[in-house]
Amino acid sequence: MKRVLLTGAGGGIGRRMRRELAGVYPSLRVSDIGEIEPAGPDEEIVSADLTNADQVARLLQDVDGVIHLGGLSVEHEWSDILRTNIDALYRFYEAAHLAGVKRIVFASSNHAVGFYPRSRRLDGSERPRPDCRYGLSKVFGEALSQYFADNYGLGILSIRIGWCFERPETPRTLGSWVSIGDLTRLCRVGLETPDLHHEIVWGISDNARTWWDNATARRLGYEPQESSDHWADAIDASTTPEPGDAVALGVQGGPFASSGYVGTPDRVL
Ligand SMILES: NC(=O)c1ccc[n+]([C@@H]2O[C@H](COP(=O)([O-])OP(=O)(O)OC[C@H]3O[C@@H](n4cnc5c(N)ncnc54)[C@H](O)[C@@H]3O)[C@@H](O)[C@H]2O)c1
Repeated sequence: MKRVLLTGAGGGIGRRMRRELAGVYPSLRVSDIGEIEPAGPDEEIVSADLTNADQVARLLQDVDGVIHLGGLSVEHEWSDILRTNIDALYRFYEAAHLAGVKRIVFASSNHAVGFYPRSRRLDGSERPRPDCRYGLSKVFGEALSQYFADNYGLGILSIRIGWCFERPETPRTLGSWVSIGDLTRLCRVGLETPDLHHEIVWGISDNARTWWDNATARRLGYEPQESSDHWADAIDASTTPEPGDAVALGVQGGPFASSGYVGTPDRVL
């Protein structure tokens, strides 16, 4: 990997991952539609709107591998999800193939399977059960990744990211937490491991209380260095209720599965 592209580099994960990736690859191209910090050594900023084909073609020129974080990261109206997370995602993959990109790490989400009950252990091979329109777009992204691996030979790692924030806040996020260091390690596995076709793995740290079996990630070489376990006692003792309605509290996707999430009037479960 000589030149790696990081999309969504102005977002919550992207801003922090940029720091983790400093000096790792000879050239890191960072991109977002929004504000972005100035370029560091071996970094290049190429601003782009992922829904603009000309800008995307320019963005992908001379790129070997992509960590694709850019897009809508929570629930939105269907028209927005369709435009950014589905139509533009297809066009992004097509442009990546035409540009000769070898690897893509796709930021999928646990919300692709968020309607599974909390009693169920998942390993990435189960059928999709999206918990919202946003989760549905991640199901599309995983299927798109399979198609581009099968049909065009791209190597792709779909990472069902759990909860990538500073620390877990609730019983649910104790299981789904991933540190930025571990998520970056997993993205590097996706870019660097030899002979990757397409795999679906969990973006989680080494958490004892998880619903997710990450054997596939470990087989590919992922070795998480951090764990949510040391917050478990404090979270168990907390009296702050977990957000979400009765449906949300029973399923893995939590509040994303609540009826009325985001307050859009047309939401139908
Ligand atoms: N944060 C998490 O715990 C979590 C969990 C599961 C999945 N994910 C996925 O990881 C990725 C990053 O998440 P995040 O929390 O940093 O989200 P974020 O919303 O903070 O960042 C996403 C970035 O994408 C950019 N973007 C949106 N539309 C764009 C467009 N049309 N063109 C170019 N850029 C555009 C935004 O400006 C933003 O900076 C997302 O794909 C999200 O779905 C995150």
